[in-house]
Amino acid sequence: MDFNLTEEHMMIRDAARDFAQNELLPGVIERDETQHFPDELVKKMGALGFMGIMVDPKYGGSGMDAISYVLIMEELSKIDASASVIVSVNNSLVCYGLEAFGTEAQKQKYLPKLATGEFIGAFCLSEPEAGSDATSQKTSAIDKGDYYILNGTKNWITNGGRSDVYLVIAQTDKDKGSHGINAFIVEKGMEGFHIGPKENKLGIRGSDTHTLQFNDVKVPKENRIGDDGFGFRFAMKTLSGGRIGIAAQALGIAQGAYELARKYSKERKAFGTEISNHQAIAFKLADMYTDITAARHLVMQAAWDKDQGNNYDVSSAVAKLYASKVAMEHTVEAVQIHGGNGFVKDYHVERLMRDAKITQIYEGTSEIQKIVISRSILRD
Ligand code: CAA
Ligand code: FAD
Repeated sequence: MDFNLTEEHMMIRDAARDFAQNELLPGVIERDETQHFPDELVKKMGALGFMGIMVDPKYGGSGMDAISYVLIMEELSKIDASASVIVSVNNSLVCYGLEAFGTEAQKQKYLPKLATGEFIGAFCLSEPEAGSDATSQKTSAIDKGDYYILNGTKNWITNGGRSDVYLVIAQTDKDKGSHGINAFIVEKGMEGFHIGPKENKLGIRGSDTHTLQFNDVKVPKENRIGDDGFGFRFAMKTLSGGRIGIAAQALGIAQGAYELARKYSKERKAFGTEISNHQAIAFKLADMYTDITAARHLVMQAAWDKDQGNNYDVSSAVAKLYASKVAMEHTVEAVQIHGGNGFVKDYHVERLMRDAKITQIYEGTSEIQKIVISRSILRD
C-alpha cells in the first residue's frame, strides 16, 4: 500500500476541506437544532462532483477512486456528519449499487441524475422487525409477470423524505431464504408508496430519516436489479463499500473533535497555565492522535483494497468497527477537555459526540461487524 497521496488526491481533499469550512460550517448548529435538510448544499455538492465521486464520467460521475471518496468523506464529516451521510448513501449504496449491478438501461436512466445531485437516492433494507437480522425481512414482492407487487414497511431510511430513487430490498420467495430476496428500483411518486413522518434523532439531525410504506406498489420487472434471487447478495456487497464510507465518516468526526480539543487546550488556562500543559490533558490528546492515526490507516486500507479489486468485506468491517469506536470514545474526551463549554452547542464538540454514536449503529452495528470479521478469520 502506497502511503503517499497523489497531487490529485491532495487537491480533492483540499477542495472538500474548503467546502466544509466555507459552506457547511456557517449553518451547521442551526441545521442540527432545527433538523433542517440541506437541499441547497446538496446541489452545491453535486456541482463539485461529491454526489457521484466514483461514478464513471460516461454516466455523469467524477470517475475518482475510493481513496478520493474517503478523503472527501473525512473532510465533510469533520464539520457536518449530517451532510456527509447524504453523500455516503448516495455514493456508496445507491450509485455504486446501480453501477456495479444494474442493467445498462438502469444506469443510463438514473446515474447521470444521481451523480450530479439532481436526484438523491435512498437504500432501503431495514425493517421494524429486521435490522441486524436482515434476511428476516417481511416486505414482499410478488411476481406478476411483467411487474411485481410490493407490500411492506421499511424504517430508518436515510434521505427517506427527499429521495427520487429508492433501492428497496424485498422478499420474493420466503422458502428460499436469503436466495429468495430481490432488490428493486422504486421511484418517488409511484402509486401506493407513502413516506411516513421524520424521525427526531439524537444526532445527524440535519439528515432525513423516515419510515416508508409500500401498499400494492406496482414495480415494473425491468426495475429489478440483477438476476432473480440476487437481492441479499446485492445488499451485502453494496454494504461492504458503504461501510468504508461510514468508517471515513467516523474518522472525520473524531478528527474534527481532536482538532477542536487541541486548539481549546492551548487557549484555556487553569492553575496559571494552558490546560495543554497539564499532563492529564496532553495525554488525552496523545491518545486521540494515536487512535485516529490508526483508524485512518484502516480506512485507507479498506479503500485501497476496493481500488485494487481486492475483497474488502473484512477490511471495511474492521475499518468501520475501529473508526466508530475511536469516534465515540474521543468525542467524549473532546467534550471533557472543553469542560463546561463542551456541554453547550457553540463549541461544536457536543454535536460531534452525538453524531459519533450513529456510526456504531448504522450500516451494520459494531456487533455485526464482529460477526463479519470473526466468521472470516475462523473460516478454514
Ligand atoms: N457478499 C456476497 N455474499 C454474501 C455476503 C457478501 N458480503 N455476505 C453474505 N453473503 C451470502 C452468504 O454467502 C450466504 O449465501 P449462501 O446461502 O449461498 O451460503 C447468504 O448471503 C446469507 O449469508 P449469511 O448466512 O451470512 O446471513 P446471516 O443471516 O447470518 O446474516 C449478516 C449475515 C452479516 C449478519 C447480515 O445480515 C448483515 O450484514 N446484517 C446487518 C444489516 C445491515 O448492515 N444493515 C444496514 C442497512 S443500510 C444502512 O444502515 C444505511 C445507513 O444507515 C446510512
Ligand atoms: P437490532 O438488530 O434490533 O439490534 C439491537 C441490538 O442487538 C444491537 O446492539 C445489535 O448489535 C444487537 N444484536 C443483534 N443481533 C445480534 C447478534 N447476532 N449478535 C450480537 N448482537 C446482536 N437502514 C437502511 O436500510 N437504510 C438506511 O438508510 C438506514 N439509515 C439509518 C439511519 C439512522 C439514523 C438509523 C438509526 C438507522 C438507519 N438504518 C438504515 C437502520 C440501521 O442499519 C439499523 O438500525 C441497524 O442495522 C440495526 O438494526 P436494529 O436497529 O433493528 O437493531
